[in-house]
Amino acid sequence: MIRKIESLLDEVKAFVPKGLAEVEEFRIRMLGKKGAITALFDEFKTASAEQKRELGQAMNRLKTAAVEKINDLKARLEELAFASSDASSLALDMTRPAGADRVGARHPISLVRNRILEIFGRIGFVPAEGPEIEDDWHVFTALNFPPEHPARDMQDTFFVEKGPDVLLRTHTSSIQVRVMQTQQPPIRVICPGRVFRNEAISYRAHCIFHQAEGLYIDQNVSFADLKQTILYFAKEMFGEKSEIRMRPSYFPFTEPSTEVDVSCNLCGGKGCAVCKHTGWLEIMGAGMVDPNVLAACGIDSSKYSGFAFGMGVERIAMLKYGVKDLRLYFENDLRFLRQFTPVL
Ligand code: DAH
Repeated sequence: MIRKIESLLDEVKAFVPKGLAEVEEFRIRMLGKKGAITALFDEFKTASAEQKRELGQAMNRLKTAAVEKINDLKARLEELAFASSDASSLALDMTRPAGADRVGARHPISLVRNRILEIFGRIGFVPAEGPEIEDDWHVFTALNFPPEHPARDMQDTFFVEKGPDVLLRTHTSSIQVRVMQTQQPPIRVICPGRVFRNEAISYRAHCIFHQAEGLYIDQNVSFADLKQTILYFAKEMFGEKSEIRMRPSYFPFTEPSTEVDVSCNLCGGKGCAVCKHTGWLEIMGAGMVDPNVLAACGIDSSKYSGFAFGMGVERIAMLKYGVKDLRLYFENDLRFLRQFTPVL
């Protein structure tokens, strides 16, 4: 009997099938009702107790080897059959049209930022950028925020290091400072960038958002130039019929300062839910650059004057697209992003 067991074990080890059908045949020949291994177990039942002790282990080893080999062969051949049927259909169908790649799209914030750059670019404003990690001087001090002035509280700041302070810029006005430090008038720049504030995230506030800052410094720049520039922007961005209005405001870096509203483009100024029935939507802060700021940046304030303005890119996008939940701009949900086409 032991010789029979060994020769069957050799047969199991040596078995190489040509296909799945042969594996099944082999299984029946070995383990089927009338199979060789099954027959051996029948014979084993009649053996003496001593023989059983001797042969038991070898019998089990044979059966396990056969079952494992069959299962393994079946799994591998099934996988192979699946893969090759797939590959052959792909390889052979030469007429099948190529799958079209989905074309990517720009993020709505990029679309609006690019549009802002383009509108101001047409009247001579060149893009300028600056670092996101800034120091206190460029973000506050040079912009006429006195050390303990409550205006610093207007913007909750993320500090990287204290004394001397390194921080994440809270507005793009810091780029104005860097430009004025390195260029002499005439200066005409539009400065886009990310800004950071320690705000709780909600539908109307986020700790990261985008601004675009404008700066124009030359001889005899007046408030009328500011007004006309912003009116031009509003008409280009929101439509020819747009009007603007300016409300007095306060910023440490401009004097006088103003907040600018544009007539609601959804109701044409008649009043609706979006403009809270006022007919107006706030779009930016602006003003004449404070002489202290010019002086801090090395520009002669007796010779030059200028205006500056700053707007939130998300805010403009919100008004342009009617998407009022700010968080959608940061979640990168493809179902949201795929809805945007370039702003014309
Ligand atoms: N930096 C201001 C803010 O983040 C926006 C701003 C207001 C920018 C007036 C300006 C300006 O250049 O003149 O709220």
